[in-house]
This record gives sequence, C-alpha cells and structure tokens, in this order.
Amino acid sequence: MGIIINQNVFTLHTDNSTYQMKVDDKGILLHTYYGQRTDETDYSYLITIADRGFSGNIPQSGDERGYSLDTLPQEFPVWGGGDFRVNCLQADLGTGVNDCLLVFDSYKTYHGKYALEGLPAMFASGEDRVDTLEILLKDYYEEFYVRLLYGVFEADDVITRAVVLENKSQKDISFNRIMSTCLDINNSGWDMIHFYGRHAQERQTERTALFHGITELRSTRGASSHQHNPFVILAEKNTNEETGCCYGVSLLYSGGFHMQAEVDQTFQTRLVMGIDDSDFFWRLKPGGKFTAPEVCMSYSSTGLSGLSRNYHNAIFKHLIRSTWKEKQRPVLVNNWEATYFDFNAKKILSIAEEAASLGLDMLVLDDGWFGKRDTDFSGLGDWYVNEEKLGCSLEELVHKINDIGLMFGIWFEPEMISEDSKLYREHPDWAMVVPGREPVRARSQLVLDMTREDVQEYIKERLFSVLDSANIQYVKWDMNRSIAAAYSAKLPGGQQGEMRHRYVLGLYSVLEALLERYPDLLLEGCSGGGGRFDAGMLYYSPQIWCSDNTDAVERLRIQYGTSFAYPMSTVSAHVSVCPNHQNGRVTPLKTRGICAMQGTFGYELDLSKMTEEEKSIVRNQVKSFKEHYRLFQFGNYYRIVSPVENHDVTVWEYADKNGKEACLAAVFTDLYGNAISHIVKFRGLCPEGKYKLFRDGEFEGEYTGAALMQGGILLPVPKEDYDSFQFYVCLEEDEG
Ligand code: DGJ
Repeated sequence: MGIIINQNVFTLHTDNSTYQMKVDDKGILLHTYYGQRTDETDYSYLITIADRGFSGNIPQSGDERGYSLDTLPQEFPVWGGGDFRVNCLQADLGTGVNDCLLVFDSYKTYHGKYALEGLPAMFASGEDRVDTLEILLKDYYEEFYVRLLYGVFEADDVITRAVVLENKSQKDISFNRIMSTCLDINNSGWDMIHFYGRHAQERQTERTALFHGITELRSTRGASSHQHNPFVILAEKNTNEETGCCYGVSLLYSGGFHMQAEVDQTFQTRLVMGIDDSDFFWRLKPGGKFTAPEVCMSYSSTGLSGLSRNYHNAIFKHLIRSTWKEKQRPVLVNNWEATYFDFNAKKILSIAEEAASLGLDMLVLDDGWFGKRDTDFSGLGDWYVNEEKLGCSLEELVHKINDIGLMFGIWFEPEMISEDSKLYREHPDWAMVVPGREPVRARSQLVLDMTREDVQEYIKERLFSVLDSANIQYVKWDMNRSIAAAYSAKLPGGQQGEMRHRYVLGLYSVLEALLERYPDLLLEGCSGGGGRFDAGMLYYSPQIWCSDNTDAVERLRIQYGTSFAYPMSTVSAHVSVCPNHQNGRVTPLKTRGICAMQGTFGYELDLSKMTEEEKSIVRNQVKSFKEHYRLFQFGNYYRIVSPVENHDVTVWEYADKNGKEACLAAVFTDLYGNAISHIVKFRGLCPEGKYKLFRDGEFEGEYTGAALMQGGILLPVPKEDYDSFQFYVCLEEDEG
C-alpha cells in the first residue's frame, strides 16, 4: 500500500514521489512534505515555530505566541483562526460571520480509489496499485466536518485530492469559497508555468516568477475557458524539459475556476485551486453535503517532460473511460470549414465519396442540419432534422454514407438556445435571463438553464431521438458562449450564487446519461474550439477539438501548450484549406498534415475540390497516420524544440514506450539565405539498439540509439515557407 501511517504522520508514496501530512499536538493537519520519493521520517522538523508578530494564535496554542496558522504549512487552511493567507474555505457555520477552525477527527484507508457523486474523478481498475486515504476534520465548535480525500496512484506518480463538506449540525451553513486543494511549499523562488489565451489562441505558454504577494488565474466565464486553463505548474528556476523539479496541479472541472499562488512573509509558497468563487455562494442545510471537484497533482524530478508523461499516462489510464480509448480513432472529415451553413445532402455526399476514396473513416456533419439554422442567429434548441434543407431524412443520408464505407458523426450544441427558435417560443423561461432585464447575448444566443431537470430531460429526449434515428457513432458536443448573467427561475433569491456550479453538475449529469445509453459513442468535446479543454471533460470525451484556429503554424503553439497537461491523443486536430480561414496564411499541405498528426487526425475542407496532386498527398498522409497510429496514441510524447522559445523550427517526437520505434516531426517557421543546419536529438530510444532511419518515408541510414539520442540528426535546410519533415526510426529487427 502506498499509504503508511505512523501514529499521527501520514506518508503517501508513489514510485517516485512522497507526500506527507501530520496531525500536530493542537489537532491541526499540517503539510510536511511533497517531493522526490523519500522515507517516512517525520518532516515536521523542518517547520519553524517563531512569533512573526501580528499573526493570530488559535485557542489551542495557549501561551505559545509562535504557534500561528498564519505561518504553518497546512493541508486545508480556512478563513478564521488567524491565517491571513489565501485559503480553501470561507464558511459561516451559523454564527453570521465567516469563521472556522478545523481540527483532526479521524481517518480511514482502503484499497482502490474513492468516487465522487456527480463529478468526474480518476478511477482505478482491480489490478492497479491505487489506495485511498480519507481524513476527517471537524470544526472546533460546531458539528461541521470536512472530509479530505486522497487517491494515491503509485505507478503513475499522481495523487488526487477532493473535499466533501458535511453539515451535521442543526443550523444552516453557508460558504462563499471552497478550494479543492492547497499545496504549501516551505520555500520560495518558484516559477509558475500557465496557459493563457483567447478564442483561436488557446493555451499559450507563459513562465513567470512568483513574487511576494498573490499571483492568480481565474475563469469567471462558466467554462474552464479559452483565456486560462485549470492546469498550472510550479517549477524551480533551472527546471527545463529534461531536468529539475516541478509540481503540476490539474483541476477536473469544466466550469469557472480560481487558482492563487501566494508567497508569504516567511518566504513560503502556497497554491490553492478550486471552483471560481467570484460569484459563488452555497447553502448547506442540516444533514447536507457538498463535494468540491477533484484535483490531480504530480511531482517530477525529471523536468517538465517527466511531469507531462505522468499526466499523459494517468489521464489515459485512469480518467478516460471511453471504449474508444484503446480503439483506433477514425480519421474524419468535418464539413464546417468546407461548407459552413451552406450544404445539403448532395454536397455532404460529394465530400464523403472523396473521403472514402482517400482512405478516411468518418464524415462529421457539423452545425446547420437542424431547425431553422442557415446562420448562427437562429435554431439552437430545435434538434429536429431539417429534411427540407438536407433533401432527405438523416437516416437516408447516414445510410448512403455508410454504404460509401464511412462512419457518420454529428454536431450538437445542447446547452444553448436561440431566441429565434421553436424551443424559445415555447419555453422562454428555460433561457438564463435575469428577470426584468434584457438578456446578455453572445454569438446571438442564450444559455439554457442546465440546472433544471425539465431542461435536462428535453436535451436528453432530443439527443436520444436523433441518435436513435440513424447509425451515428460520434457526437461533437459544442458550447459557443460564456455564461454572463447566471440565473435560474428555479432557485430561491438567496441561492443564485449556486447557479454556476449547479450548471456544471447539470451538464455532467446529461453527459453521463448520454454515455450510459450509448457506451460506444465517440464523444468529442468542443467549446468554440478549445474553450473547455480540461481534465473534467476528458472523463466524458476522449478527444476535444483543440482550437477553431486550424492554421498549422499557430497550432504549433496551441498544441505545444496543450501537451503539458493532456495526452496528445485527446487533441483533435484537422488539416484545413489554404489560405487559412483564420489568418490567411498559406502553408504546404504536407506541413498541415504533419501538424494535425500531432493529435487525433482529421480534415476540415472540401476534399472534392482538391487537385489530383493534393489528393495523392492526402492519401499518403492517411496511410502514414494509420501505419504509425499506435505510436501516436500509446507512445511517449516529447517536446524537443519549443515554438515559444525557438522561432526557426518546432520539433516534437513520439517514442514507443519500449523504445522500439519513434517518429520525430520538424516544422520550420522561418527561412534564411545561407541557412545553418539544425541538429536535433531523439529521446526515448534504446542506446544499444540499431535503428533504421527514414525521412518522409525514404530510407536514410542506420544508426545506434545512442547516436540518435546523443549525437542527433541533421535537419534538412527548408526549401520553402513552413517546410516540414517527418523522421521515423525503428529497431532493425522490428522493421515491417
Ligand atoms: C465552433 C466549433 O469550434 C466549430 O468547429 C464549429 O463546430 C462551429 N462552432 C459551429 O457553429
């Protein structure tokens, strides 16, 4: 078992990390260690007890003026008790003011992993070395309990945390802040790496030094958002891809979130993360419980690359449930950028026929097939097939597509409603609009009140009815606006602060029902591209449309940022037409293919308009992707040359977990006269292995793994704008 309890010291071991807590003589649960794997020494000897002045002393500290929660590292710091730093809970336990003081009550451990009601959570399978520790804290005065849950995934070097609040008192309890985790580190000088952006520019990578004070990231948008991602890294100054220490914290939540990192007066660092608390308020009746979303934490002493691999492996093994996880995902063509709203069955079939002849596997019919939906001003909510527009029923269209040899997928945006829709005319109160005020529109649409059961039932009925009407194997679940005025007609006035979290719970419950009914459905998440690319959504959808920006060059930075936390098999990426629809850039079709193969591969253009030469390139791309599919889906991913730090070339690699084969891609982003050569080094090979090296399918020579990793290879000089190259190596005995 990865959990060792020695009297009042709780040590959690994964194969390469150790996490430790201790209940001190005042009953406070201290955080004593998180870092490289070590022994069970009680690391509280590293804590300094000293009177810093003006720091509060809890009643249990008696005359000890040096004992203050304001300076102690803790597992779950709360507002009250004299800790003035960022905290995990601000609760009114019936006194009329926010004040709480938590002390240890009890604990239990068990093999396997706890689950969370109504929320995504990582899971274990029977054989896995995964254990749970539950620690129960109690308010010093009231029958109010905080259950801290820890999941220890030994083989994957991740530890999950979640929190359940339990009101066992006779009073109503309320809170306006609940964070899922606190990471107290006993030093400062950390860099924070985070992923910011905007629509079509998601997950740009930024590294910044933490300073004395609070650094914070937040989404107030009702979704995890394009602007910030609920994943953050704390890294030592000298940490790079291959060496140095770093921590990752990922929140499994698709709504607004809040992350704060504070460097305090004694040069300690505290990171907290949880539900966005900017407009949050929750009331817990006597007997009531509240579950805060899970976080997944990891520590790496092998640099950022090691940290990413921990997340990639853990998410793949313990978060993605889909039956598509192990199966080969279809190479699809999506008609959005090919037609936008302007299509009928004939047009779709012409794309499908071409797709089949080029070796693709699936056609996805995007926005515009339902209700009155020829622009984005109308139709959302009316999930009835527009047979007049298509020129046939959906069943007929799908039959024809299946006959051509393709699977069929379809787009929905279930959480939304257009004012110009039958649904809105019948149920205006289902849209979130603050009474007596004009609605706040975005993309000319309103958001459905997902907290309502009748709304959830309507969505399920419509989804199920369409999915039952034809042979549909894939759904793209889109969400194209943020939530501005969150309001539910069903919630009492004083509880509107619960709305945003209840919305996310409503969303999760519909997704759960969808997957329960169609366990083999391939669900692709989407929110105007990657506006809801988070670990919460990956529990439901094994792949997410990474960005509405399909320009291969901009995708280098977007996919690079995404790769820190999320396995590349979750990153949906398509080849689109040139000039690119988002920025007008022209890139070679070869490069567009190589960039899209970094993730789950597809096309998003009118294949029927391609030249014969282009079709031949596409045919080879599809063939090559399928040939190397296992490497892309199950291999280790390495960021070799960063598009943020290097403006000449971006390089990444997939290596088989046993080092038998690898694929390295290089995309040039600048050109020079009299250009110099770049050398890049492979990773993850067997040093003594003898490899055959192929460049763009052509045999180049034989090298040892040591030569490829220590010496490297010379990249060819690019011959045109955005030129690219793909190298493949395999052990000689495994070739073919
Ligand atoms: C936003 C998505 O990201 C696009 O791919 C497309 O599905 C549109 N919505 C359709 O409205």
